[in-house]
Amino acid sequence: MVKSGIIFLLSLIVLSGCGASTPADTVPSASPTPGTQTSAPGTQSPAPPSPGQDESNEQPGGGDNEAGDEGDGSLGEAEGGRVTPEAVPVDTDPHSVTVMVNKEYGLPEDYAPTDLVYPDVRFTFSEKIEKRMLRQEAADALEVLFAAAEQDGIYLAGVSAYRSHSTQAALFKRYVDRDGEEKAKTYSAVPGHSEHETGLAIDVTSSDGSCAVQDCFGGTPEALWLAEHAHEHGFIIRYPEGKEHITGYQYEPWHLRYVGIELATELQANDWTLEEYYGVVPVSN
Ligand code: DAL
Ligand code: ZN
Repeated sequence: MVKSGIIFLLSLIVLSGCGASTPADTVPSASPTPGTQTSAPGTQSPAPPSPGQDESNEQPGGGDNEAGDEGDGSLGEAEGGRVTPEAVPVDTDPHSVTVMVNKEYGLPEDYAPTDLVYPDVRFTFSEKIEKRMLRQEAADALEVLFAAAEQDGIYLAGVSAYRSHSTQAALFKRYVDRDGEEKAKTYSAVPGHSEHETGLAIDVTSSDGSCAVQDCFGGTPEALWLAEHAHEHGFIIRYPEGKEHITGYQYEPWHLRYVGIELATELQANDWTLEEYYGVVPVSN
């Protein structure tokens, strides 16, 4: 188990006199891996949209709207305190598949994955463009996941995978212009804080493209299959229903995050979000 190994290592450090690490002090002050320092929470400014950036590949009419048009965007009250019993050092290495990226933990300003590839799976569009890409390990796992789904009669399609920092900036700005910043932040990440920028996240839908990144995807056979089986292939439903106050985002049954089979299985077994696993709840909304 990932966590058990880390806990064992932490115990050794404590026993060897390096100082006890309490749940609280292991979290935001976790030492970044050299050369991979994350931005201090709240210090990363949104990058301006690239002039002339072509967003025509995003689906028109809000099809890329990760919020859907339902709901008021409000999130539950955050509750204080840890959820997980033991401290796990937060992974802040952007190159790591278990990296924590959320409202508090951002990516280094200049981070861009170097091993992006086009997974050989169905997408809702045909162009070979940025949002079709994933990091190699996640792409390989996605191909296996799609094949396993098809074995069960479930036909999935990718909607949106990798986004550069400038794409996320443009998208977020569009949502703020449309819905206002407070609501936009319930369904879209501030640039530098989106898992899509890691190349480890992908929004998926059914093969007919209906309900793509819309609330109506929840409860479909495809969504139910993903909730039950995604972890077997290293993916998690990153923003689950009922954990909005922990993740800081509304329920997104379509947003898959690759973390590797071992961690995904541990999260699934314990019904933990990544925040709960790393003990960094609640996030500030
Ligand atoms: N919809 C998720 C939170 C993102 O923008 O990355
Ligand atoms: Zn997403």
